[in-house]
Amino acid sequence: MKALVWHGKRDVRVDNVPDPTIQEPTDAIVRITTTAICGSDLHLYEVLTPFMEEGDIIGHEPMGIVEEVGPGVTNLSPGDRVVMPFQISCGHCFMCDQGLQTQCETTQVRDQGMGAALFGYTKLYGEVAGGQAEYLRVPQAQYTHIKVPEGPPDERFVYLSDVLPTSWQAVAYADIPEGGSVANFGLGPIGDMSSRIAKHLGCRVIAVDIVPERIERARRNGIEVLDANDHDDIPEAIKEMTDGRGADSVIDAVGMEAHGSPAAGLAQQMAGILPDAVSQRVMNEAGTDRLNVLYQAIHAVRRGGTISLSGVYGGQADPLPMLTLFDKQIQLRMGQANVKRWVDDIMPLLTDGDPLGVESFATHRMPLDEAPHGYEIFQKKEDGAIKVLLEP
Ligand SMILES: NC(=O)c1ccc[n+]([C@@H]2O[C@H](COP(=O)([O-])OP(=O)(O)OC[C@H]3O[C@@H](n4cnc5c(N)ncnc54)[C@H](O)[C@@H]3O)[C@@H](O)[C@H]2O)c1
Ligand SMILES: [Zn+2]
Ligand SMILES: [Zn+2]
Repeated sequence: MKALVWHGKRDVRVDNVPDPTIQEPTDAIVRITTTAICGSDLHLYEVLTPFMEEGDIIGHEPMGIVEEVGPGVTNLSPGDRVVMPFQISCGHCFMCDQGLQTQCETTQVRDQGMGAALFGYTKLYGEVAGGQAEYLRVPQAQYTHIKVPEGPPDERFVYLSDVLPTSWQAVAYADIPEGGSVANFGLGPIGDMSSRIAKHLGCRVIAVDIVPERIERARRNGIEVLDANDHDDIPEAIKEMTDGRGADSVIDAVGMEAHGSPAAGLAQQMAGILPDAVSQRVMNEAGTDRLNVLYQAIHAVRRGGTISLSGVYGGQADPLPMLTLFDKQIQLRMGQANVKRWVDDIMPLLTDGDPLGVESFATHRMPLDEAPHGYEIFQKKEDGAIKVLLEP
């Protein structure tokens, strides 16, 4: 089959690789009809290079049609239309029972000290082949699937794999008081969607980015926007808009690759060129995240407010302003999205009209063969790329 294969820093190619096969009774094989490129894939493309192996198949936002199931999967049949959550979870362990599927105790990657295995996300997360491919092996398939109805196009449902539950959890964890305000940093797919969800739920949303067409798109959706290029002090601008207090809640949908953090940016670049064993330690043990947006979030949130991190961070020694966090009495919540936990909340917004605008959410659709181009324009923010869908 054809699959998007990682070869090196900023070097991904569509190669011919062996078809996946059933290996465990709880596996299924799914033929992928639509799959997406995520901001999290951009970390693999460049800064998480030390954790990648040449030959890794990337991708964790796939949907398609079940081809084959193992004997242990009794609730799926060939022909079923399914979306795969980006994490692999069993549905019957202590963590899954609590809706913490990203901590699933059946698939936890214990030798790396990490949570549930993820599709296409390095040896840190179990080295499972990803979904930017013609076929995908789905472990724990009895639970690692979301059945979706026939009829509407793939665009309607594909974001259930990641964008929608991640954005939903970002808003839920932000704990925005009724009628309150949320400052949303980042207007990539995650920040754009969390802004839409917060607005849909009746909150006041102030969104920040640096890319003109992303800012413009949010403005068109009725969201108050700030262009970080036009302000020396974004937290101050947010305070001015919120009676001098700051926003009730802040969502950070930017994460470890925030622009405007030169020192950490250099460390990330260094980690990309050092020998793997050394650079894994640099990434793992040194604070190599670019914390610019997290710092802004801490200053933009009002006293007693909540910060919800959906942007991914990876450093182990990131310096945090504990004095300010403690004195302002800030709640900090974060983590990978527990996809299956939120599906029942989100599904009505996909089957009863399209209030979040998912059908027109993607800016680019292209055949899998053109995925390397898709990565390039998404990373460089060229050609108006905000969300790129691939069709194997
Ligand atoms: N928690 C989860 O489960 C989960 C799931 C998916 C994605 N993510 C993470 O969410 C983050 C966003 O992903 P995405 O798909 O939206 O990708 P993205 O990379 O397109 O989005 C990041 C956005 O942040 C903006 N940005 C960068 N620096 C900024 C700054 N200083 N101020 C304001 N905005 C700034 C960029 O212009 C971009 O629009 C990534 O870190 C990704 O790994 C987390
Ligand atoms: Zn993703
Ligand atoms: Zn589990």
